[in-house]
Amino acid sequence: MLGREPGIRDDRLEKARMACMELALEAPPDLIIWLAHRFGTLYARPLRMEGERHQIEPEELGYSLANLAEVMFPCLEAIEARSVAEIGAFTGSLTSELLAWAAPRGTQITAIDPNAEGKLVELANEHTELELLYERSNDALRRIDLPDAVIFDGDHNYYAVREDLKVVEERSQGGRIPLLIVHDVGWPHGRRDVYFELDAIPEEDRQPIARGVKIAPGNPGVAEAGLPYEIIAAREGGPRNGVLTAVEDFVQSRENLLLAVVPAFFGSGIVWSKDAPWADAVAAIVEPYDRDPLVDRLEANRVAHLAARVELVEVAQRQEVRLERQQELLERMLSSRAFALAERLSRLRHGSAAAFSRKEVRDVLDADDRRS
Ligand SMILES: C[S@@+](CC[C@H](N)C(=O)[O-])C[C@H]1O[C@@H](n2cnc3c(N)ncnc32)[C@H](O)[C@@H]1O
Repeated sequence: MLGREPGIRDDRLEKARMACMELALEAPPDLIIWLAHRFGTLYARPLRMEGERHQIEPEELGYSLANLAEVMFPCLEAIEARSVAEIGAFTGSLTSELLAWAAPRGTQITAIDPNAEGKLVELANEHTELELLYERSNDALRRIDLPDAVIFDGDHNYYAVREDLKVVEERSQGGRIPLLIVHDVGWPHGRRDVYFELDAIPEEDRQPIARGVKIAPGNPGVAEAGLPYEIIAAREGGPRNGVLTAVEDFVQSRENLLLAVVPAFFGSGIVWSKDAPWADAVAAIVEPYDRDPLVDRLEANRVAHLAARVELVEVAQRQEVRLERQQELLERMLSSRAFALAERLSRLRHGSAAAFSRKEVRDVLDADDRRS
């Protein structure tokens, strides 16, 4: 039986369910602006709301690679990893689980993220076996000791992934490359670039860009409704577009590499060398999931719901703002003498069939109170 990290999966599912309910009911007014900002140049830092009513961590919507635990940890086990680098660690959601896995094994973890924050910073202060580098991956990979495994979850575009893969290969000096685990080979970024930091990508290596748009699964262009982005490739597909395209191009142009794709949770590609002594062990772990059509369908269904939910939250948000304005106006009218006078005049003319009454207005406001 494949290794299973006890507790991880159930905990994540529970958080995902909670997030569904909370988002719909409690989204603060600036959620959409926040979403657009975070999903935009940084889809990668999604749905985390500072302060106020609650905070959503990436794992709650399935963004964290920690969701790959049942595949990732057995693979790290199989290669007997003594060192692992995580590119793009954000608040350390995966890092903390990597650390828990690494502690009894004495494995060293390097987290590379120029924008590391929150729990990740605390983790780095608390754990000597974690090195946190506030650097872009391409710079860090050029100088650190090449680890046994590299986890890619940083800048999700063709250029950034290709350049990091190149450095890893160069640093392997013709030898075996480390085990590579590349997140986001599924929708939305498998075939569509997003640019975390546009200026870090040479102009000639960027896709034509769309700004302030939404995208939805099954629509290769921009959509009326879906996930909002500040900056994203205007179209999905075609050459030199997306994370999976970069990984495939890398693997296909080399003879000794294998690629498996686990389609769940935005998709992860696992790349390893056929010549590695552990090649068969890794193959045995990943093959049951590799491009599995059932998992693929589940993921397609999941991202469709995710995009729809984000859209619904936006609609709910707009309605809430509108409702608040209406309530505020009605309350002002209720306390105004002119409105009371108007009610009396209407009663004089129409009796019990008056056009409106303050009681009616109060009832409407009370009904709203009960609803919220
Ligand atoms: C999706 S988050 C990482 C989530 C994390 N791996 C997890 O599973 O919880 C992506 C992170 O990549 C980082 N990032 C973006 N471009 C990067 C680059 N060139 N090098 C390293 N990190 C980068 C961002 O700062 C962001 O925090």
